[in-house]
Amino acid sequence: MLDWYDTHRRTLSWRAPAGESADPYRVWLSEVMLQQTNVATVGPRFAAWVARWPDFASLARADEAEIMAAWAGLGYYARARNLVACARVVVAEHDGAFPRTEAALRALPGIGDYTAAAIAAIAVDAPATVVDANVERVVARLFRIADKADIRPAAATLTPTARAGDFAQAMMDLGAAICTPRNPKCLLCPLRASCAAYAAGDQARYPVKAAKAAKPTRHGTIFWARNGGDVLLVRRPPKGLLGGMRALPTGPWSADPPGLADAPLRADWRLGNALVEHVFTHFRLKLVLASATVARHAAPHGAEWWPIESLGDAGLPTVFAKAAGATGELD
Ligand code: ADE
Ligand code: SF4
Repeated sequence: MLDWYDTHRRTLSWRAPAGESADPYRVWLSEVMLQQTNVATVGPRFAAWVARWPDFASLARADEAEIMAAWAGLGYYARARNLVACARVVVAEHDGAFPRTEAALRALPGIGDYTAAAIAAIAVDAPATVVDANVERVVARLFRIADKADIRPAAATLTPTARAGDFAQAMMDLGAAICTPRNPKCLLCPLRASCAAYAAGDQARYPVKAAKAAKPTRHGTIFWARNGGDVLLVRRPPKGLLGGMRALPTGPWSADPPGLADAPLRADWRLGNALVEHVFTHFRLKLVLASATVARHAAPHGAEWWPIESLGDAGLPTVFAKAAGATGELD
């Protein structure tokens, strides 16, 4: 795998050049970004982020609202809040550098088993076993493992004592380019001679998928209050889904369409019938738009008037950006 990596490794902006040690800040940031967001999306977002906040010190000093806006569109916003919290702990309690063991890393905000192992392996060169979805797939096929719980221990038997970070990234790159979910390119695979699934010809059976819980559907209304060239935006409460993000006002998200319940201000609301759909981790959301034109009016408490022509700079989470697009007023 290490020989294969030396020839085939992907050039990714957060990776150190071959043979050079990696910057722990960049490793951490990229691994957090990559947890629920794909490599192609992360590339430019990572570059913009490190240009603005190049190290723990600058991130620890940053304004949390700006961080949240810079994260807009990447989803799972608790990750961004935890980035700031973690940078602040690293600066205040660890002299501005990560601790070097997996256990100490796990004690930091937002760092779970996966991220701790990835930082330990890639940035510290400790023999940590890193298991993400790509590695799971490769290992499940290699040993024909049906039970997900058996994958990590099997992966641990492969982790080398030296270059564990390169090994982990080699497994990730193999999973991304060769041992792909569908039609793996086994003839190009360096593991072919030892791969049990290849020998049995049943690569497609692995990894065995756990049955997915059905997602409930919720309904909501998004309020588009237009005031000349401005639209009303609110900031969501700090806790909970999309907490602390700038947003379009919405009423409750419930099992039945809530209509005009909880409108942000009194106006002649018109309820449209175009549906905006968005899928969150635990539910599917169907939204209708209510729109109104209101006269010059002080924004309600906690809300602000925002120029529609620069709505792209507001840092709206994807669900609200979609709803704004559905008004037809951004074109
Ligand atoms: N996905 C998550 N982390 C990665 C990494 N370090 N290299 C390639 N793909 C990844
Ligand atoms: Fe995956 Fe095929 Fe390689 Fe086995 S031989 S690890 S199934 S690409």
